[in-house]
Parts: sequence; C-alpha cells; structure tokens
Amino acid sequence: MKAKIITALLLSATPALAEVNINPPATATEAEGLDAWSRIYEVASHPRCANCHIGQSDRPMWSGPTYGKTRPHGMNVRAGESRIGAETITCQTCHSTKDKDWDNANSTPHAAPRVATAWQLAPVEADWFGRSSFEICKQLRDPELNGDRDMMELAEHLNHDVILHWAWNPGGGREAAPYSLQEHVNDILIWGVAGMPCSES
Ligand code: HEC
Ligand code: HEC
Repeated sequence: MKAKIITALLLSATPALAEVNINPPATATEAEGLDAWSRIYEVASHPRCANCHIGQSDRPMWSGPTYGKTRPHGMNVRAGESRIGAETITCQTCHSTKDKDWDNANSTPHAAPRVATAWQLAPVEADWFGRSSFEICKQLRDPELNGDRDMMELAEHLNHDVILHWAWNPGGGREAAPYSLQEHVNDILIWGVAGMPCSES
C-alpha cells in the first residue's frame, strides 16, 4: 500500500509528454522543403520561442499578446554569461522546477512559467528574436551554430525538451506556438530531407 502511494507521487511529479513520432519522408522536393521552412520560421519567430532565443543579449524578452508592449524581461532580470542568471538571481528562483501537478502548473496568468527542467536562455548562436527567415534558416542548418545537430538530432531535441512541450501548451492565457509539436517535427524532417534549403526572399 505504502509503495503504491510512493509510486503514484513519483508518477504525478513527472510531466506527461505527448508522444511525437519521428518519421522522415522518403523524399521531399526543394519546393516542399521551402514550404516546410516557412512554417518552421513562423514557429521559431513566435514569442513562445523567440523570447528565450535572443542572441548576444542577456535580457530575456517579454512579447506576445499577454504582454502588451514588447520589452525586456521585467524586474531587471539578467541572464549574465552563465545564461541562467547565476551572477545575480537564477531563473529557477521564479521559474521553479518544483511542482507535483504539471498539467496545471501554468494556469495562473502572469506567473513565471514553470517546467520540469531548469529554465534558461537559449545559446547565443541560436539568435532568433527579430531575425529574418533567411538568418534563422542559415543558423539552424549549420552544425557549427546549432549545437552540432543533424536533421534527426534536431527532431529528437524537439521531442525531448520539456520547454518545447510547454511552448505548445503554455497556459496562463498565453498564445501557444503555431501548428503543433508533431507538425513542427514533421516540417523539420521534410526540410531536412529536402536538403535544408534557405531562400533569401
Ligand atoms: C525557456 C527558454 C527557451 C524557450 C522558450 C525555447 N527555447 Fe529553444 N533552446 C533553449 C535552450 C536553453 C537551448 C539549448 C539546449 C540544448 O542545446 O540542449 C535551446 C535550443 C534549441 C534548439 C537546438 C538548436 C539550436 O540552434 O541550438 C532548437 C531547435 C530550439 N531550441 C527550438 C525551440 C523552439 C522551436 C521553441 C518554441 C517552440 C523554443 N526553442 C523555445 C531555450 C529555450
Ligand atoms: C524575479 C522572478 C523572475 C526571475 C528571476 C526570472 N523570471 Fe522570467 N518571468 C517571470 C515572470 C513573473 C514572468 C511572466 C510575466 C508575465 O506573464 O507577465 C516571466 C516570464 C519570462 C519569459 C517569457 C515567457 C513567455 O511568456 O514566453 C521568459 C522568456 C523568461 N521569463 C525568461 C527568464 C530567464 C531566462 C530568466 C533567468 C535569466 C528569468 N526569466 C528569471 C519572473 C522571473
């Protein structure tokens, strides 16, 4: 009986991640690849992603309908060189990883979003906020700038990162990233099979 209760507590402490299938298409034309890219760009440039993917700056952004005006993170939060605020106050102090009910963890509007992993800024190279489609496309296909990932590794990363699962289910009245995580993964795979084409127009 006791063991059962402990198991139940452990299970409820683990967020339920939706299953994502990683099935690259056998073939994809360049036109299909560019089409998929234009949807990938809509996701990457969306506030739920771009607010953390801010390049050189160490100030996370607040943007999207629930924020009104686009501005740097309030309370003078700085991520520092550590990218996690270790020099001043860590992201996790407010973006807590402690919760037993992950399904409802982000139901309060304007509370700091919480996921079951340390909240932190994206790497400097993954610079998306306010960048053009062409700029983001070139970054994401370059192993030197994307964490040394090929198409399958990008798809795996998307599947395994709980921050991404949050971006499609952000709660608190926040607008979710467009499409779905599964559609985004499918698009990454189509774009990858097509040879990761980027277009200047
Ligand atoms: C809370 C901040 C945060 C948010 C929000 C966020 N990311 Fe990230 N992202 C990160 C961090 C941190 C890494 C580095 C993780 C790693 O390399 O394992 C990362 C890395 C990545 C990578 C790996 C490739 C690269 O260029 O480094 C991809 C792809 C990515 N994010 C996509 C997204 C997408 C798509 C969204 C929105 C749906 C998103 N991220 C939202 C913090 C964030
Ligand atoms: C003092 C508390 C506090 C600290 C420390 C903090 N945050 Fe936040 N953060 C918040 C609150 C509260 C919100 C939500 C504000 C709102 O919705 O009006 C937020 C929202 C955000 C958002 C926007 C999420 C979205 O809606 O897309 C990002 C990105 C973010 N924080 C990144 C960080 C990073 C990175 C750090 C560490 C360098 C950090 N925060 C440290 C309190 C904090």
